[in-house]
Amino acid sequence: MDPVTLPTDRLVLSAPATSDAEDVIAYATDPDVIAYTPVPAPYGHAEAVEWLGRCRTGWESGTRLAWAIRRREDPRLLGTVELFQIADGAAEVGYATHPDARGHGYVTEAVSAIVDWAFATPPHGLGLVRVQWRAIATNHASLAVARRVGMSYEGLRRSGVLHRGQRHDEALAAVLRDDDRSTPLGWPAPTGRPDA
Ligand SMILES: CC(C)(COP(=O)(O)OP(=O)(O)OC[C@H]1O[C@@H](n2cnc3c(N)ncnc32)[C@H](O)[C@@H]1OP(=O)(O)O)[C@@H](O)C(=O)NCCC(=O)NCCS
Repeated sequence: MDPVTLPTDRLVLSAPATSDAEDVIAYATDPDVIAYTPVPAPYGHAEAVEWLGRCRTGWESGTRLAWAIRRREDPRLLGTVELFQIADGAAEVGYATHPDARGHGYVTEAVSAIVDWAFATPPHGLGLVRVQWRAIATNHASLAVARRVGMSYEGLRRSGVLHRGQRHDEALAAVLRDDDRSTPLGWPAPTGRPDA
């Protein structure tokens, strides 16, 4: 499929381009990105070029769709949101940003727009019914984004994910097309007990 550009109030979400390689390296080498995502480490020009190539083929096949997060007035790639494992009406979402771009709600804004598009009926979107999210359970910033976009908590896979040689608890959440995104359900209270 052709890459899809999605404008939001403050952002333009567009397919990453070869010219974004240095910006990709800048966020992919951030310690939090290494701690919580499966980026190669170390990460240099070859890794960025390889990932940008996968972005291109992902759009071509329609199986893995990546968007660069950019401010409307600034072409710098601040981070990315990806939809992957797109099959049978469902997909998974993943995201990461450079530390400079955190704390402004950009990822929440980007993921919300991408979820809207994923649920929209073709040709205006993918016509999905479910978008899911997974994260290492101690990744509170990622949990907060998933909750803010209206995902409901689906549970914890104890020691469910292997990351950099160690097993971690993995949190699961998802949003369905017909969910009321203003009332995400089931997120654990700080004690770890479900609150809804
Ligand atoms: C996960 C990650 C993308 C979240 O980034 P983030 O900046 O916290 O997320 P957002 O862009 O949605 O911004 C939310 C923050 O902006 C604040 N904010 C400011 N204006 C806002 C607005 N208009 N709307 C929403 N939030 C706003 C929120 O209060 C929140 O701050 P807080 O965490 O202090 O409460 C980032 O921490 C990251 O890249 N981590 C490393 C990679 C990673 O873990 N990826 C996920 C793997 S599962």
